[in-house]
Amino acid sequence: MTLPDTTPTPRRILLIIGGGIAAYKALELIRALRKRGLAVRCVLTAAAQHFVTALSAGSLSGDTVYSDLFSLTDEAAMGHIELSRDADLLIVAPATADLMAKMANGLANDLASTVLLATDKPVLVAPAMNVRMWLHPATRRNVERLRADGASFVGPDEGDMACGEFGPGRMAEPERIAEAAVEMLRPADAKPLSGRHVIVTSGPTHEPIDPVRFIANRSSGKQGHAIAAACARLGARVTLVSGPVAIPDPSGVDVVRVETAVGMLEAVDAALPADVAVFCAAVADWRVAAQGGEKMKKDGKGPPALVLVENPDILATTAHRASGRPDLVVGFAAETEKVIAHAQDKLRRKGCDWIVANDVSTATGVMGGDSNTVHVVSAKGVESWPTMSKAAVADALARRIAAALGESTWV
Ligand code: CTP
Repeated sequence: MTLPDTTPTPRRILLIIGGGIAAYKALELIRALRKRGLAVRCVLTAAAQHFVTALSAGSLSGDTVYSDLFSLTDEAAMGHIELSRDADLLIVAPATADLMAKMANGLANDLASTVLLATDKPVLVAPAMNVRMWLHPATRRNVERLRADGASFVGPDEGDMACGEFGPGRMAEPERIAEAAVEMLRPADAKPLSGRHVIVTSGPTHEPIDPVRFIANRSSGKQGHAIAAACARLGARVTLVSGPVAIPDPSGVDVVRVETAVGMLEAVDAALPADVAVFCAAVADWRVAAQGGEKMKKDGKGPPALVLVENPDILATTAHRASGRPDLVVGFAAETEKVIAHAQDKLRRKGCDWIVANDVSTATGVMGGDSNTVHVVSAKGVESWPTMSKAAVADALARRIAAALGESTWV
């Protein structure tokens, strides 16, 4: 008697390898995906074949490699429509500027672009190109268009590039692309943060000068609140420690309202233990040394001198805790210049695992605005995420946190 085969069918990835120097990393990506139990089938563009061979892609994937739109033999075995429909997820890695331009404009003049146009499955794009090509307005437009069309992005990272330049454009590491793929394949109702406790700080602090005046800043709390909501959607128990904000409480989280930095630290301490702490609040660096009990009055002798003392650093205090430190401590860095360098310095100084850095110079409109361009800086390197809504940054960060906890590797 033959027993019914109960082995689950592996989820299928169609990996489209574009023609860039990073194509060699696509071979590592095949391994990383298969290590996660995923079946991989490859499509190589004509340009990709200058960098990797169908033989190596085929040996590593254990499947046929497709490259020719007009191949009678390939079409007989598997038509291009079937090829795209047969996969659960399409990954484009490396996604060259040219391939992304084709995707964004719906061109279909080779097998890779035809498959991408014919698919009804989610698409994960891992861009890789020269920094100037990545920053060119045409590529910016294509990225925006692709995102609006529903594509997801992983990377590019910032770093030294094969062309000798430095900046964003390096393809994300294969392990991270594979991790993002696993996250995308996770059923929508899966709760990867269930059983975890996440503390999030959000909003500004108000540091009183007297009973009617205070020192504050322009933080709206939008990003921190969105992160709290995103972690809750992934199943976490969330404590949101919020300074004074004018936005509603997110649903499904415990909100602790505070005014000052000292109050925020007390609330964070009281909320511990936690698996994760995300410090998104724009905490005032200083408070007035001696807060007046009465309203300060003009006395005709000129303006008073305010003596300030430094506030406790809530992030650094939590990250340096000898006991009860959360497994993953994430800080934010709002910078107006040298964003990455300052974030790397902050990572070391504050002792956290990741710094999510963003450019808040007035031109970017981040403060109070709805979108954000962030770089996730860790000891292992820098991930530069494309400009997204604050809600999308929150979702991506929550998924990234879930993946990191699952893997115990703080990438
Ligand atoms: N932070 C904190 N407590 C403080 C100051 C900052 O928890 N007293 C946290 C913020 O929530 C953020 C990170 O530290 O996650 C960085 O905040 P930022 O204001 O950019 O850093 P500063 O320490 O103020 O550094 P600098 O003045 O050099 O910019």
